[in-house]
Amino acid sequence: MPTLVHELELPTITEADGDFAARRDKMLALGDDQWLAVEGFGYTVHRYDDCVAILRDKRWHNASGRLPELFGVTDERFMERQQVSILSAEGDTHTRLRRLVGTAFSPRAADRLRPFMREVVNDLVDAVAPAGRADIAVDICEPYPIPIICELLGAPKEDWQFFSRVANDVLEIFSMDMASKLDLIMTAQDDLDEYTQRMIAERRDKPAEDLLTALIAAEEAGDKLSNDELVMMVNAVIVGGTDTTRNQLGCAVALFAEHPEQWALLAERPDLAGRAVEETMRYAGAVRGTGRFASEDIEYRGVLFPAGTFLGVGLAEANRDDEMFAEPARFDITSAAPPSPQLTFGSGIHYCLGAALARAELQEALPLLAQRMPDLRLDGPVVWKPEGVGIFGPAALPVTFDPGH
Ligand code: HEM
Repeated sequence: MPTLVHELELPTITEADGDFAARRDKMLALGDDQWLAVEGFGYTVHRYDDCVAILRDKRWHNASGRLPELFGVTDERFMERQQVSILSAEGDTHTRLRRLVGTAFSPRAADRLRPFMREVVNDLVDAVAPAGRADIAVDICEPYPIPIICELLGAPKEDWQFFSRVANDVLEIFSMDMASKLDLIMTAQDDLDEYTQRMIAERRDKPAEDLLTALIAAEEAGDKLSNDELVMMVNAVIVGGTDTTRNQLGCAVALFAEHPEQWALLAERPDLAGRAVEETMRYAGAVRGTGRFASEDIEYRGVLFPAGTFLGVGLAEANRDDEMFAEPARFDITSAAPPSPQLTFGSGIHYCLGAALARAELQEALPLLAQRMPDLRLDGPVVWKPEGVGIFGPAALPVTFDPGH
């Protein structure tokens, strides 16, 4: 007979244990039999194998659609306004969406944008190079993803400002004080939906070489995305592809600033970009966890999780699991690829749809920054964004570098 999870005596991890790193290390130090703990909204797993097993088990549903509820939001207008996004879709609905949109997000589609990505990075560095100092978070990471998402979707350059505003406002949905920002979020969602509808109408008349055209054309056995689904996908690309990428780049550069020899090595050997991205995402992932809830009673490892139970999935902890990674506490871009991938892109059916694009963005940005910003040194303390449920990264990352190269 499985034991009911609520009846177990479990280790508890709270803010009193310290900052995220302290809590992560406490979790990692738990004994072999302590694979489950109590933290935040409910229970949490932290071992690599458990995280993957939960993420691959379709009975555990994505908790993202329940964030407003977890934050205590009750505004009916707001709840109705939230469409079912691909991230919160499950079962056949989700399978169908992934089948239809998969090709549009292939590595080949992402590779097409690599020259443009280098152009964007070079322009951003040009603006700060003469001074030899920059706030990497503000000057490089913040602006980097918007033009790429615009280029990907096929939005004209004059609309970048608009995109930047709506993306920032829509992304407030991840902030701890979202409850006080409902109007702002809804206005941005309305503006974005209207804009996307117009763009869809234009592309239907005049196809182009962009993601939106590919999504409109996507067809499987006579099945196609509806207009509402196309709008939802554009929303998902903006919500999923902006803050994640900029914060991941910020986490990576902050990490390299502590490891100058690895920064110099990457500049010399841009062929290490692929490993460098995986290793930085393993060691300092911008998405440090996700959440699931049990869609039915679930038995796992002899424990019964009743329907509705919330379960945190500790991606950052799993990325330091010594059963999977040879020297998990060491950052080394020359280390051999591990037998299984780092988990910052998740796993299972909701595995990041934009992973190929995000990898390309980071693989292009990091070696180029290392080459154009040699002798990178911190020029003041890194200010980290508040630790919340969302995406983590630096709010300020002041550096100096040698502009002479
Ligand atoms: C380094 C940057 C990124 C990181 C760390 C990241 C991380 C993740 C993670 C962890 C998930 C799964 C969440 C879960 O299972 O609960 C996810 C899903 C998703 N990501 Fe990303 N992401 C990144 C970039 C992007 C980009 C560039 C795009 C869009 C172009 C994107 C679009 C999506 C979408 C649409 C989903 C939902 C997929 C589904 O539910 O089937 N992401 N991402």
